[in-house]
Amino acid sequence: MDCFITATDTGAGKTYVTCALLKALSNLGIGIAALKPIAAGFESYGTERINEDVYRHRASASVQLDPAIANPYAFEAPTAPHLAAALEGRKVELSVIEHAFERAKLAADIVIVEGVGGWCLPINPEQMQADLVRHLRLPVVMVAGIRLGGLNHSLLTARAIEADGCELIGWVANIVDPTYAYAEQTIDSLLPRIPAPLLGRLTWGPEEANRATYNALADATATLSRPRNA
Ligand SMILES: Nc1ncnc2c1ncn2[C@@H]1O[C@H](COP(=O)(O)OP(=O)(O)OP(=O)(O)O)[C@@H](O)[C@H]1O
Ligand SMILES: [Mg+2]
Repeated sequence: MDCFITATDTGAGKTYVTCALLKALSNLGIGIAALKPIAAGFESYGTERINEDVYRHRASASVQLDPAIANPYAFEAPTAPHLAAALEGRKVELSVIEHAFERAKLAADIVIVEGVGGWCLPINPEQMQADLVRHLRLPVVMVAGIRLGGLNHSLLTARAIEADGCELIGWVANIVDPTYAYAEQTIDSLLPRIPAPLLGRLTWGPEEANRATYNALADATATLSRPRNA
């Protein structure tokens, strides 16, 4: 099934988890692509200047999308989307992202949509990221950044997703601070308090060719590998 990946904050591991899922599902022979509807900030790769997340997705996905489809909104300024767009005299429109999503769905069996920043983020002067998720009718997977403060951020994010009328289908615990001594206790404290299944526990380590990472995401892979509309 298609899904929207959000997180407890920027830098909590959305792209890390998305790429691991892209590779795991590609290895199963599934045609999988990723969409980054709104990205802020560019990097240089040879002669190409694109957003780092879009570059990383491309390297992991089995289905390659046209850059305009994979990332319909790319802004220069590394800040919140409504601010970055305004600096360029532009505005994020849901219809443009919906068009890209429909095109991506034609090309791939599964489309993973990576959100921007955390959950509660304006995307234009009138709308929030949750409006986009509702518009695309996407179930949500939350990446919980496990570190000091992660308990609060995770519970608030899970509540906000539900309060915004979206469906949280699962969460991934990502230990983003390997020096945090209470990671397992933090995850165990979240388990009974988040009304969705834990789909994987990731420790800190290189994602590239890391079988342990794929194994840790086995439940997430099984959940997403269900056919669209099943
Ligand atoms: N479990 C992990 N082990 C090792 N590195 C990790 C892990 N999780 C995340 N990282 C690294 O931490 C950094 C931030 O993670 P990532 O880019 O996935 O966050 P994000 O939520 O996608 O951020 P953004 O809001 O910028 O899109 C990256 O360099 C990523 O490779
Ligand atoms: Mg990212």
